[in-house]
Amino acid sequence: MKAKTFEPKKTKRYSMPTKAYFGRNSLQLLGNIIVEKSIHSALLVCGEHFKKSDDYRQVISNLKETPIDVYNEKIKRSDFSTINRIVTYCRKYRYEAIIAIGGGSVLDTAKCAAILTTHKGLIEEYLVSKSKKITAKGLLYIAIPTTAGTGTEVTPWATVWGDNKRKYSLYSKGFMFPAIAIVDSHLTDSLNQKDTATSGMDALCQAIEAYWNKHHNRQSDIYALEAISVIRTNLENAVRNPTKKIRDRMAWGSFMQGLAFSNTQTTICHAVSYPLTARWGVTHGQATSVTLPSFMRGIIPALPKNRQKHLLSALNAHTPALGANVVEQLMIRIGLKIKLSALGITKENINVIIEDSFYTNRVNNIPLQYDKQRLKRFLVAIY
Ligand SMILES: [Fe+2]
Repeated sequence: MKAKTFEPKKTKRYSMPTKAYFGRNSLQLLGNIIVEKSIHSALLVCGEHFKKSDDYRQVISNLKETPIDVYNEKIKRSDFSTINRIVTYCRKYRYEAIIAIGGGSVLDTAKCAAILTTHKGLIEEYLVSKSKKITAKGLLYIAIPTTAGTGTEVTPWATVWGDNKRKYSLYSKGFMFPAIAIVDSHLTDSLNQKDTATSGMDALCQAIEAYWNKHHNRQSDIYALEAISVIRTNLENAVRNPTKKIRDRMAWGSFMQGLAFSNTQTTICHAVSYPLTARWGVTHGQATSVTLPSFMRGIIPALPKNRQKHLLSALNAHTPALGANVVEQLMIRIGLKIKLSALGITKENINVIIEDSFYTNRVNNIPLQYDKQRLKRFLVAIY
């Protein structure tokens, strides 16, 4: 098999310390990578969907000569108790590495476990009381996504859901980028329509948020525009009529947006999405994209003219309003909701959404200023 290798990259403004392998069947490289990295003991953490696949059996068979244990417990969410349990396990058995194969929750759980194993204490102490800080490297972490959407295989943070219906982000630019990412589109072949749609829209949303982000740079722009164009042209087919080629393109688009927003973070669409997920259980990609077309109508005109032009070209639209319509129509065609009211949210819930949205700093990453009153007017208008 052929995999494209992406070596770590560092320029004055852009940093990507993760070494990435991209290509259909690139998972087969895992055995070689373990040998190359001289890993003597590792924990393999997998999502439930992957554990039921032939690929899982293949991985276990291929790795039987390597010093790897399989973590058997289910990982439902990247939350405090799940992370603390794996950290306890890793500290006890003194693993050198964690290999994670799964969706965003599995990858984020493992990413937190990899960093905390080499530190002391519980995840809550880093996120809630903030009495502890990330100060050193974690275990060597290999991230292998099974969806085309999260991008977490190349980002220096992990989403963690608190017991208090709050979303936290464990973040360390210096220490939390995965050492290695393997992006194998074959692993996305068995994704169902809903997961393909929601993870794909999350990827498109993150690409657009990377582009209009205050922290953008030349390199992140190149990745973001590529991702927007590729996902826009392939997501509907990936949902309704997937072929290997389409899955390959979506994996590429998702990988590109990961490379883009790894250096910018997300923005207001994600800020508003967290309470929708934490309080009302809305799937992440649906929650992030439900406000996206409406935010596009306001935020794209606030970009400098030449930046608007590049973004609209990637969206294949002539005006910001038409660009927003492109995304809105795509969402409708792949079965996603475009109104908060269609997600079981009531008008009375909007105040809670606003309070929780401002809990993160993501609101401020855009070229427009949103205070609580302005966000309220916005959400009521699009409700
Ligand atoms: Fe996201």
